[in-house]
Parts: sequence; C-alpha cells; structure tokens
Amino acid sequence: MNIQAPPQIDPAFRADVLAGFRMKRRAIPARWFYDFRGSELFEQITGLPEYYPTRVETELLARHAADVANIVGSGRAVVEFGSGSSTKTPYVLDAVQPAAYVPIDISGDFLRESAAALASDFPKLSILPVEADFTHPIVPPAEIASLPKLGFFPGSTIGNMVARTAVNLLRAMVETLGVGAMLLIGMDRIKAVETLKRAYDDAEGVTAAFNLNLLHRINRELHADIPVDAFRHRAIWNDAYARIEMHLEAVRDVTFTVAGERFSMRAGETIHTENSHKYGPRDARLLLRAGAWTPIAEWTDPDDQFALILAEAQPSGMAP
Ligand code: AVI
Repeated sequence: MNIQAPPQIDPAFRADVLAGFRMKRRAIPARWFYDFRGSELFEQITGLPEYYPTRVETELLARHAADVANIVGSGRAVVEFGSGSSTKTPYVLDAVQPAAYVPIDISGDFLRESAAALASDFPKLSILPVEADFTHPIVPPAEIASLPKLGFFPGSTIGNMVARTAVNLLRAMVETLGVGAMLLIGMDRIKAVETLKRAYDDAEGVTAAFNLNLLHRINRELHADIPVDAFRHRAIWNDAYARIEMHLEAVRDVTFTVAGERFSMRAGETIHTENSHKYGPRDARLLLRAGAWTPIAEWTDPDDQFALILAEAQPSGMAP
C-alpha cells in the first residue's frame, strides 16, 4: 500500500493568498513566487537577453570591486542579505579579502548548498551561513561580533519593496551590522519604458511562466482549482510610482475555490503579484538616507542602466 502524507499547508501562504483574493484590488506578495520551480524560473530570467539587471550588475562588480575594496579596506566580515545562489559574491570576496562571510537567506537548503559551493572556491575563508528572514534585525554569529562589517545587497531586490518597507529594511540592516558598517547595494535605474517592459515580458515567455507559476503553486499547495489557462501575464509601467508592476489578468470570467473559499473574477480584472521599483540617482540616495545610510560612492554603466552604491551607516543623532 502506498500511503502518502497529505501536503503540508503553509499557514502564512494560505493567509496571504486568501487575504489577497478577498481585497477589491487583488494582490499577493511577491515572496510567494519562490517555490522550487519559481526559483528555477528566476534563475532562467537572470540569463535572458532582455533581463539586463543581472548582466549589467555583474559587469559593474567585475569592473569596480577593486574600487570598493580601496574604500572599505580588507578584514571586514561580509554579510550578504538574501544570498540565494551567491553568484555575484566571488567578485566582492576576491576584492575585499574579508575575515569572514555571512550569507543570510530564508531558504536553508539553498543557503547550505551555495555556502558549500563557495567554500570550495574560498577554502581559507570562514563561512558562517545564517538561516533567517533578513527583513528584521538579526544577531550576527558571535565569531564576527568584533569585526567591522560590509553588508552586500545586490540584484535590486530593494526594488521589490514599497518605499516604507524598503526604509524599514535599510534601518534593520543598520541594526544588524552595527556602528561603522558599510553597505554595497545594487539599484536598478529608471529608463526607457520599452526596455523595462521587455525585461519583464520577454519574448520566450519565461517571465510569464514565472508569474503564472504562482497560480500552479496555489492550486498545488492550497487545494485550489484556479484555471491557469484563464490568466495571462501582464507587465505594466506605473509612472507615478516609478515601478514595473506584474499582474495576472483574467482573460474570461472565472470562478474558483481556494482552501474551501469561493472567488470570482471578471474578464480584465487582475491579481497584482509584484512591484519592481526603479530609482533615479537622487531617488536612490534619498532612499538610502531615509534608511539611515549615507551614500559615499557609486558606479554605473555607460548607459546608466544600473547603479552599485556604497554607503556607510549614519551615526544616530547626526543632523543639523
Ligand atoms: C528579484 N527581483 C529583483 C526581480 C526584479 O527584477 O524585480 C524579480 C523579477 N521579477 C520578474 N523578473 C524578475
């Protein structure tokens, strides 16, 4: 007899999806994209010709990691927030010669796998993975307590947060890293709308599959029966908020059930699934200052597509 355990329901996922479907403007937080398949699709997105952020940021790191090292010096503990596959990390580690590397990620398996891969490339480096939600202040491992820190937050992940959440996160990073800390952060620039839309609606349909995968995940994990073929991927530039929004649009009237609750959508109505904010040079600096970081250097590509910004933690109480 083959007795399979019923799939475990994640109560936080269930609560977010049900609350999101009950709202007049339906919305589900983007963090739920990243199940195993979603993470695979995101890795594919980073290699697409239209998705310039990964390529341009990697080139910036290759070109300017030595400039970063000249400013921050060697011997710091590098703390990476949402380290994921840590693909950009070697540029920083090679240049800044850290005393330790602390990758922080909510996905423990992914974290341990990529920490092990890095350990074989940097055999002498002390690697101390921390499985945690980095949006809240974290107590770093005791081994790095006395070391000055360099936070690393690449990928323009900050862009997936609305301004208030982004500021809260930046302030949490100050608390995690302490006085004298520095932060190297990647932020995507505002640019031609067509370039942005192509980056979030690629010709191969990988981003569409990434967006629609959320519905497959809901069906699988929350006992739902959403007809996925009744939805299409939309990437919209919202100029007032300077952000690309991803939505799932119903192409016909639909009714479905999620965790026992019934929902209906009319053709043309959408589920808002992601924001990806873009920042002009002054916007980026203002956001950092609001989050208690003082920008001290920045590097961009010749077309100003993407920025790498180095900032230092503001001593509290410093104001005219
Ligand atoms: C993870 N994050 C920075 C990506 C972005 O560009 O906002 C997620 C993404 N969504 C669609 N394509 C990529």
